[in-house]
Formats: sequence, C-alpha cells, structure tokens
Amino acid sequence: MPRFPAAWLDELRSRADIVQVVGQYVPLKRNGHRYWGLCPFHGEKTASFSVDAERQVYYCFGCKAGGSVIQFVMDIERLEFSEAVKHLADQLRMPLPAMEEDADYQRRRTQRDRLLEANKEAARFFHQTLFTPEGQASLDYLKRRGLTDSVIRKFGLGAAPAGWETLTKHLLGMGYTLEELQLAGLTVVKPAEPAFTDPKTGEVHPERPRRAFDMFRNRAIFPIIDQYGNVLAFGGRSLGDAQPKYLNTSDTPVFNKRLGVYAANLLKKERNLKRVILVEGYMDVVSLTQFGVRGVCATLGTALTPEQAKLLKRFAPVVYLSYDGDNAGQNAIMKGLTVLEEAGVPAKVLQFPDKLDPDEFIRRDGIEGFEKLPALSPESYRMGRLREQYDLSTQEGRTEYAKACAVILQRLEPLERENHLQELSVQTGFSREVLLAQIGMSAPAAGKASAPRSAAHQQRFSPNRNSPAATQEERDEELLISIFGTGRIPTDIATEEDFHDPLLRNLYLSLREGASAASLAEDQVEEATRARVSRLLLTPPAEDTDQLLRMAQDCLGRNRLKRSQAEFDALQKQLPALGGEEKVAALQKAQQLMVQITKLNAYRS
Ligand code: UTP
Ligand code: MN
Repeated sequence: MPRFPAAWLDELRSRADIVQVVGQYVPLKRNGHRYWGLCPFHGEKTASFSVDAERQVYYCFGCKAGGSVIQFVMDIERLEFSEAVKHLADQLRMPLPAMEEDADYQRRRTQRDRLLEANKEAARFFHQTLFTPEGQASLDYLKRRGLTDSVIRKFGLGAAPAGWETLTKHLLGMGYTLEELQLAGLTVVKPAEPAFTDPKTGEVHPERPRRAFDMFRNRAIFPIIDQYGNVLAFGGRSLGDAQPKYLNTSDTPVFNKRLGVYAANLLKKERNLKRVILVEGYMDVVSLTQFGVRGVCATLGTALTPEQAKLLKRFAPVVYLSYDGDNAGQNAIMKGLTVLEEAGVPAKVLQFPDKLDPDEFIRRDGIEGFEKLPALSPESYRMGRLREQYDLSTQEGRTEYAKACAVILQRLEPLERENHLQELSVQTGFSREVLLAQIGMSAPAAGKASAPRSAAHQQRFSPNRNSPAATQEERDEELLISIFGTGRIPTDIATEEDFHDPLLRNLYLSLREGASAASLAEDQVEEATRARVSRLLLTPPAEDTDQLLRMAQDCLGRNRLKRSQAEFDALQKQLPALGGEEKVAALQKAQQLMVQITKLNAYRS
C-alpha cells in the first residue's frame, strides 16, 4: 500500500476545515471555539455532538464517535482511510502527492482497473440480456420466484444466455483480452490438445484447438458489488435443478470471497441503520429487501469470517444473524456468534421457524411476521439450543442443563445475567442463589471462577478503555494528557515515567514531538481507543493557562508521591531478606526515595 507523506496529510487536515466539512452534513451551532449539533452517527434529540475548531477534531459525548476530519469522512461516507483522504483532496482541489509506487504496484493497479471494468461491462450485458428473448428464461425464473421489476433493477440482476460464448465474444469485441476475461473469471479457457490415441480403447482423438467459453451459461445472475460500486464477481442461479445450484466466481485478483458481503453497495447507501441483517443466500437478501427490510446482506457462500464481521460493524451497531432455520443454518449461527464476539461486534439472532429460510418465511408470514420475530441475545439463543439437548422432564436433565447454562452465563455482566437467571430458575426449579453459586460468581468468590472473557467482552467492559479511568492515578494520567493536548503547557514538566498506561505514555511522547491532537486521534486503529483518545484530547479541562498549569502540577505531584511511597514500602518489605551489596544498594535507593517523598510532601502542603 502506498502511504501518504505525513507532511502532506497535515496540510490536508489543516486546509480541510473540520467545521466546514462536518457542516455539510450536520447543522452546527457555535459556542466559543466549539460547535454543537445532532450526532449523525446515532439518533438523538439533544445535541451531544461537538466539533472543536481549535483542535480540528470532533467528538460525540453520546456515542463516543470521534476523531479528525479524515475520520469523520471515513465514518460518514463509509470510506477507508485512503479513500477518505482522496475524497477530501478532491474537494479541496489539492493534487495527490507523488506516492512511492513501484512499477509492479502500477502494473497490478492497471490490471485491477481493467478487470473491474470488464466485470462492469459483463454486469451491464447480463442485465440488458434479461429483457431480451435470450434472457426470457431467466426473467421467467425470477418472476416465478416473486421478484418485481423494481427489485430486479435495484440489485442489477441479469441473465446469462444459453449459448457457449456470447459474453466472451461481446467483451473481446470491446477490446478486452482473453487473458483478462479468464483472470476475471468470466471466461473458461481450455488449452489446446494434440491429437492422441487412447492406448486402452485404441480410439483416435483428433487435435483440438484452444477453446474459450463463458463461465456463466443459462443462469440468472446476481452481480456482487462492493460498497464503492465495483462489480467484483457474480453468482449464477441455475434455472431449474441443474447443479451446482449456485455457480460463483472463484477468487480473482479483484475478488476474495472471504472479505466482502453481497449487497455491500446497498448497505452503504442506507443512513442510520440500526442493525445489519446477515442471511445466507443471495435470494434471501433480494427477497427481504423487496418486502421492505433494510440493511440486509449475505456472506458469499462461506462461513462468516472476521474480516466480514469487521466490515459489517462499519454499517451498523449490531449484526442480526438471520440464517436458515434448518440444522446447517443453526450450526452456522453458533459459529457466527463466536466470530462476531471475537471481532467485538454486538450480535443478535433471528430464528426462523419450521426450518424455513428468510425468503420462504417472509413470503409465508409477510413483513409483519418478520418484524414480530424476537431478536435473541447470544446467550438466550445458546441456552435455547442447549434446551433441545437435555430432557427437562427429568431431574438429571435439568441439572445438566443448568450446569451447561452456567458456563454461558459466567461471561455476562451481573445486570445482563439477571434476566437469564430468572428464566433459568423457572425452567430448572433451582433457586437464583444456587444457580449463582454454580456460576461461581456468588459474592465471596467474585471473579475468580469466571471463564476467560471474550475479546468483545473485554472491549466493552474493561475500565481502561472508553469508560472513565478507574483509579485516581489513572484519572490523573488521563488529565495530564488532556492538559498537554491543549498545546498550551510545556510538555517537559513531565517525563515518560509519569505515564504508566502504555497508550497514554505513547500519546505523551507524540505530543512532546509536536504531533497534533487531530492526527493522534486518527492514528488509533481500534475504534474504542480512538474514542478514548478523542475524548481526552477534545475535552480541555480548563480554558485558563495558569489553571491548566496548576492542574498539571497537582496531577504530577500526586502521582509521583504515591508512586515513590509505594516503591519505598516495597523496598522496606524486601530489606530483611537482602544481604551484602544488594542490601547496601537497597538502602541507598530507600534513602533517595525518602528525600523525594519529603520534597513532594513539602510542595503539596
Ligand atoms: P441456499 O441453498 O440456502 O440458497 O444457499 P438459497 O438462497 O435458499 O437459494 P434458493 O432460494 O434455492 O435460490 C445459500 C447460499 O450458499 C451459496 C450461495 O451463496 C447461496 O446464496 N451456495 C449455495 C453456493 O454458492 N452454491 C450452491 O450450490 C448452493
Ligand atoms: Mn431459498
């Protein structure tokens, strides 16, 4: 990946006035050097979204979104970093800098562009064919499945004609090479074969020239389009019972089925999606969308991958796993929940009755039926699955079931756990207290017996993340960063030893080297960290410089005293066990600490 030079990025940030850019999307009201408005990233009625003109950062006190102008464009336009940068540069008419692109990179890029163009032409061809006699069979099929013209157009569905090389000829005629069409997965090329005689049968096979034929023939076509409108690949549905039922483009230089989702292009257009509905099949996406469900997409014939989970998180705050009601679908939900959890993506489950898939269900029960389906928490869903495995009419079954559920509930926070406990108590007849003891979280043993928590859980509940710092010491370190973030207090009144939290220490070092608050917020890859950094750098603790300086000195003094004292206490405990030179060194160190502590105490009183 080529990188933008840091100096050029700084210039872009300073030229793209964040107030202007955000103002294009959100009406803002000024108050001092801050501007306030309704957050575009979560629904709200009172303004908790702020833009800081001085520091060129934004932050939402409600949903904790935040960052620089580039981050804002990434979030609102759902672009990746380099795309957001190009978008801004384009608006500002700033020429892109010369990037270090080697010849190989250049070649791959041109090839990529060519393949994407060929795909786009193919999609156009398939779509147009649908409304001609050659596409009649496919159109009939789609109509039989209940699709309307409008949804067919929305998804750009198409028809691959029955002939052997209709598309290949069409694209060759447009100037694409056979090699390109093969690379794009549109054309299958069989190499030439020399004449040969079968040694067993004595049969003579004549020489065969190289043959090229269309990959998709006599199928209804579902183009796979990414969030930027690139046509990456195709899925082709057979019009009857021909196997395979779906034929998909294999991985190509422009398509990796593990990375994207079907209908990402439509997801991107949706504003304020409350949830993403993830289904298994192309047809399910099209059908639910036709019935008015928003935010539906599907994986591309593989199990959900971590990359896809992270992609989905960019579109909505929660993913609803809505797989087929059959066994395969239900097992895939269990796996999908783990993938989402590990990627830190909140999840719910929609369970379809009678082994139906989403398409069949919505055709039977309508949008009303669909909206009545309960959104199960992962724990409810897992407990439900367990319930099928045990015979709850026997004491033994109930006991085993309760034990298995305890393992699931262990991982929950107390408040979340409470509802499930009551439900479990009713199902099994065990009291809440007994169940709690089983969970191993009853008061005296708190925490000890709990299973290792998932990454998602830690991300959500670790006090050191986005929530306010837990201890006074942590709060003081954070406050120091906020103070230095204003750029009005010299950073050399502190040293890196004053920061024990690794993230805060790095922030301090960067600020000392002159990094801007905006660029620091943006450097954070992880969303939670970015929010934390934005919060720190966006909330100057005071406006007055003298006051800022006094606060900084207070924080430093308080922490240094506490830490020297702790070190002194630890040393004193070790002393009796030490001998010889070690003891002499320890005594000397203790002496130094004593002097420091006295000084710090004198300063503070
Ligand atoms: P399903 O068999 O559940 O498809 O496969 P479906 O959506 O219900 O299909 P219809 O309703 O019969 O048309 C789900 C997904 O698995 C992949 C496709 O992505 C499909 O949408 N699949 C399935 C294949 O890639 N190849 C196949 O042969 C079958
Ligand atoms: Mn189906």
